[in-house]
Amino acid sequence: REKVIFISTGSASLDALLGGGVQTGSITEVYGEFRTGKTQLSHTLCVTSQLPVDMGGGEGKVAFIDTEGTFRPDRVKSIAERFGVDPQAALENVVVARAHNSEHQMELITALAAKFAEEQGAYRLLIVDSILALFRIDYAGRGELSDRQQKLNQMLSRLTRISEEFQCAIFLTNQVQSSPDASAMFAGGDKKPAHASATRVYLRKGRGEERVAKLADSPDMPEGEATYKITVGGIMD
Ligand code: GTP
Ligand code: MG
Repeated sequence: REKVIFISTGSASLDALLGGGVQTGSITEVYGEFRTGKTQLSHTLCVTSQLPVDMGGGEGKVAFIDTEGTFRPDRVKSIAERFGVDPQAALENVVVARAHNSEHQMELITALAAKFAEEQGAYRLLIVDSILALFRIDYAGRGELSDRQQKLNQMLSRLTRISEEFQCAIFLTNQVQSSPDASAMFAGGDKKPAHASATRVYLRKGRGEERVAKLADSPDMPEGEATYKITVGGIMD
């Protein structure tokens, strides 16, 4: 079994909360209200994943599934500048796929897994921003919750397998309304499926520009909080 790598979020305090950063070989989910920085974190990880391991990186490429049309190449470029990475080269190491519905999202995951297999060891991170948005549209009816949960569980189980098979980190974002307990990911509410995200982080707005991350679920780290900011160079302390 390969060694776990921790990919920096861009914020030392958030990294510390996570035990060093976003882990390879498992799923990390950030959930929170709009504008808490989920997409900006995703963009920051696009760059940090490429850095040398001793700089908090994963020395690998990134796959980004964009379900809301919020991927911005220019953001990756300006974050690359902050880390002293060539902006164009940084962008070329991010493969972006736009998902149009939940089924398409699953097809893209399958296609990316094939790509990871073709280029063994090249990819360190797979981002899905956001994991649930298209499911909410496709399964909007009251009677469709259990169908939605079943399809979502299939997707999470496939993502878990990809994280283990290719020793890459899976980073999922999930927009929820204002409560840290509102686990929209698990419509049943009571019990999480066995292959649920290993690490779950709740994000909220703090004072002014400040944002607060709270570790909600972790296999090996204690509960705690960290603060971070969203800047032109990405997520920072
Ligand atoms: P939803 O997808 O709507 O749920 O929100 P989100 O959690 O993905 O929020 P996102 O990551 O898009 O963060 C939005 C915040 O980032 C806003 O407050 C923006 O002002 C801020 N932001 C985006 N780009 C920049 C930038 O270049 N500089 C700075 N300083 N802030 C930025
Ligand atoms: Mg977003």
